[in-house]
Amino acid sequence: MQRLAPALRDDDVPLDLISLIKTILAATKEISFRVSQAQLGGLMGSTLDENIQGEIQKKLDVVANELFKDIVLESGFVKAISSEEEDTSVAGDENGKFLVSFDPLDGSSNIDINSLIGTIFSIHEAIPEMAADSPDQFKQAGHKQVCAGYVLYGPSTMLVMTTGKGTHFYVLDRTHGGYLLVERNVQVPKDTREFAINMSNQRFWEAPMQNYIADLVAGDAGPRGEYFNMRWIAAMVGDIHRVLSRGGIFTYPADNKNPDKPYKLRLMYEANPMSFLIEQAGGLAMTSKGRIMDIAPTDIHQRVEVIMGSANEVEKCLSYYK
Ligand code: F6P
Ligand code: MN
Repeated sequence: MQRLAPALRDDDVPLDLISLIKTILAATKEISFRVSQAQLGGLMGSTLDENIQGEIQKKLDVVANELFKDIVLESGFVKAISSEEEDTSVAGDENGKFLVSFDPLDGSSNIDINSLIGTIFSIHEAIPEMAADSPDQFKQAGHKQVCAGYVLYGPSTMLVMTTGKGTHFYVLDRTHGGYLLVERNVQVPKDTREFAINMSNQRFWEAPMQNYIADLVAGDAGPRGEYFNMRWIAAMVGDIHRVLSRGGIFTYPADNKNPDKPYKLRLMYEANPMSFLIEQAGGLAMTSKGRIMDIAPTDIHQRVEVIMGSANEVEKCLSYYK
């Protein structure tokens, strides 16, 4: 097992980016501790406030957001941050070289049931000509990310990260307080017989997704001729971690449950960082129309359709849209 910084240096990650990553990870260690003590510290349940997405914020969402934001902005490495829990981007250091987008606590509905949650982050290079307080500087495609990752607050606190040279797993070692590399160059198997989708939305999906899932559910009696298993953790970090660990297809497709909101997951701090991790592990990360990381963002909070995971299964799903 190797410590974080030497592992990053082996991948030729520039020193200023390593410093930013270490700062982000300091924030996640603090969040990990607060998460573990949430019930004892009176941090379960909701606030009375809504975030910009119209969702009621959990107390722990707010704590995680404040911790992450303050620690990262104070570092001096960052020109601005944008977060699921902030209305717009927040300026940092005018000379900061990086932009950080994050979901401080993904899977909020799992907080109060002591189930999987995690922090997702995405790093882009700052654009020198743009002002630190301009949200427009975040409108960069996912393929321009220089680093993406998540920290999963599970039985182990685990970091999964890429800087564009493979996707690696690390575990927080509480005895020395740092993250240790436990698996280098994780590979998502090309084929799978496991799918993840919120089946309760079935009647609201478009016809191609209805047909694809119907064929999976039909199992060995259907056209695929094989039994498919279903898993749904209701936290993207948890579902993507399973896909990275043993394969699978994860999708949150378009639906017409609420015509004003056809998609659920956010591009900048959910879909893009997970796409970078999945692609670096040999998987595919798509919408029904193309590659997620090629989308030119129009808004820091925009939502997107997501179909990602084992390459052959993602291709199979997309074939229903042709
Ligand atoms: O952040 C949105 C999110 O919580 C994801 O982590 C998760 O995959 C999804 O929403 C769960 O959606 P649903 O509530 O439909 O199960
Ligand atoms: Mn989320």
